[in-house]
Amino acid sequence: MNLSSVKQNERIAKKGQGYQIKPSSVHERLYVVELEQQVINCFFEEVRGINSQQLEYIPYMRFILTDKLSSLLDEDFQKSVRAILHDRHTGGFTVGVNQQTTDPEDYVKFSTAFSHLIGIPNFDAMSGNYYARFSVKHTDNSDSYLRQAYRLFTLHTDGTYVDEATDWLLMMKFDEQNAVGGRSRLLHLDDWEELDRFYKHPMALQRLIYKAPPSKNVVKEVFRTTFYEQNNEPCICFIDQFVHPENLEQANYLNELSSSMENSSATKGLELPSGELIMLNNRFWLHGREAFEENTRLHRELLRQRGRFA
Ligand SMILES: [Fe+2]
Repeated sequence: MNLSSVKQNERIAKKGQGYQIKPSSVHERLYVVELEQQVINCFFEEVRGINSQQLEYIPYMRFILTDKLSSLLDEDFQKSVRAILHDRHTGGFTVGVNQQTTDPEDYVKFSTAFSHLIGIPNFDAMSGNYYARFSVKHTDNSDSYLRQAYRLFTLHTDGTYVDEATDWLLMMKFDEQNAVGGRSRLLHLDDWEELDRFYKHPMALQRLIYKAPPSKNVVKEVFRTTFYEQNNEPCICFIDQFVHPENLEQANYLNELSSSMENSSATKGLELPSGELIMLNNRFWLHGREAFEENTRLHRELLRQRGRFA
């Protein structure tokens, strides 16, 4: 087979014991991991005795979940899933519980099993736990775009204002009622038409100040460059809300960079049904959210985890 004729998301596709890894039909850089029904049922059965409080208090229990899942699949499973997250061509996949459960406790366990396949989640200061669950509703009086339903959530990376590395990001949909719109917006850095213009700009490697609003419970400021290199490839760190420019030149650069990404035709919307999660490499994927249509009974709950590679 001629490798150049292979699509971005076909290289790691395979059928293994208890699962299948397929190219996503909605994004040519994403995979879909499909677990067999029996695997999902066995997993939840075997971890029935573990609850979310134990997971919060006893960190090693989180790895036990991953081990239970891995033991139901072949040896290549973990390797393949990690390979996807590290692969510059793709760096992301979706997976779900296949409607076998709608119990939020099960969702916490499922997302934890997947995050610990890849690495270790960072402490989430907003929730005081290794994950955060948050709702988007009709009304909101918080201090960031995270819970504001009716405005577009601009493209960004996560972990900009924390000290630790944020290699990956996991988002799992718990529940959704009366929601129209609000899809995730995704942009792979290599699909952005104007990457070179901003990456080669003199401002690209300037250290900028990042500060979080009070709700994030992170008081310290950190310095970050907008671009940096990893494995000889450009990576990005950016969010419009938490970067504090010190002069007009920096402000102009950030403003133009954000508008360029917002106007990129490569930004795609992704529908994530309840019970499904997406994992992305946070170094070369940007994410955001479309606005919801107004509805007083709108309710959506998501879980997030962000962390380092093992
Ligand atoms: Fe985010």
